Amino acid sequence: MPKESTMQKTSMTPTHIGIIMDGNGRWAQAQNKSRSHGHQAGVKKAIEIVKHASHRNIRYLTLYAFSNENWSRPETEVSTLMKLLKEFLFSELPTFIEHDVRLTTIGDTAKLPFFAREALNHVINKTQNHQGLTLVLALSYSGRNEITRAIQAICKAHKNPMDIDENCISSYLDTKNMPDPDLIIRTSGEFRTSNFLLWQSAYSEYYVTQTFWPDFTTTEFDTAIEDFISRDRRFGGVA
Ligand code: IPE
Ligand code: IPE
Ligand code: MG
Repeated sequence: MPKESTMQKTSMTPTHIGIIMDGNGRWAQAQNKSRSHGHQAGVKKAIEIVKHASHRNIRYLTLYAFSNENWSRPETEVSTLMKLLKEFLFSELPTFIEHDVRLTTIGDTAKLPFFAREALNHVINKTQNHQGLTLVLALSYSGRNEITRAIQAICKAHKNPMDIDENCISSYLDTKNMPDPDLIIRTSGEFRTSNFLLWQSAYSEYYVTQTFWPDFTTTEFDTAIEDFISRDRRFGGVA
């Protein structure tokens, strides 16, 4: 947030972009294909967008890949998504190395199956010193769950209530070392947050497109950035 003035013409590329990658199932359904087919296409698209964001020197890209509520989907769909996660991690490690991408996660990742956690730990360790794009995968993530876990940790630390301010709360969230998202893109036309970065998105700019995630393009990503640049961010101040 700006310190000296409450008004900020963005005029700058966003530091942190979050994407709610929605619409894989409907994209597949429109072609009489299975939801798994849609998720496979979704992963391919994620890889394309990660490379593009890195090329554009975006510092942080958070991809909402699996929500805490997504555990309620049929077991076969959940298991497909977990397998795709593992495949993505192993197939893309060379890409992360080539593009200097650092991988990290947010979410209640302890709930993920062992093989997925193992693959994540492997890639996180291998990329921890990279200096380029930080790719944040939101996995088993929900904003309410994150805030609840933060409150539990604050209580465990026996904090004096008077010492609990916004900075303190931020420091207990999964995003503790990250800037708040400047821009949040949601594909597939739904106007809702679906529990994504609730605390951190207080002053994020939203860009919603009707495009299903597998049809999203690098051109549309650039359009979202252009749209962001044209906005006035007032942070509650005056224009
Ligand atoms: C987004 O696509 C991917 C995940 C939530 C894992 P969906 O699977 O939600 O696709 P739709 O919204 O049903 O079309
Ligand atoms: C949001 O999509 C979560 C992810 C993109 C991972 P959902 O498909 O789960 O959200 P709702 O059910 O449409 O709100
Ligand atoms: Mg959906």
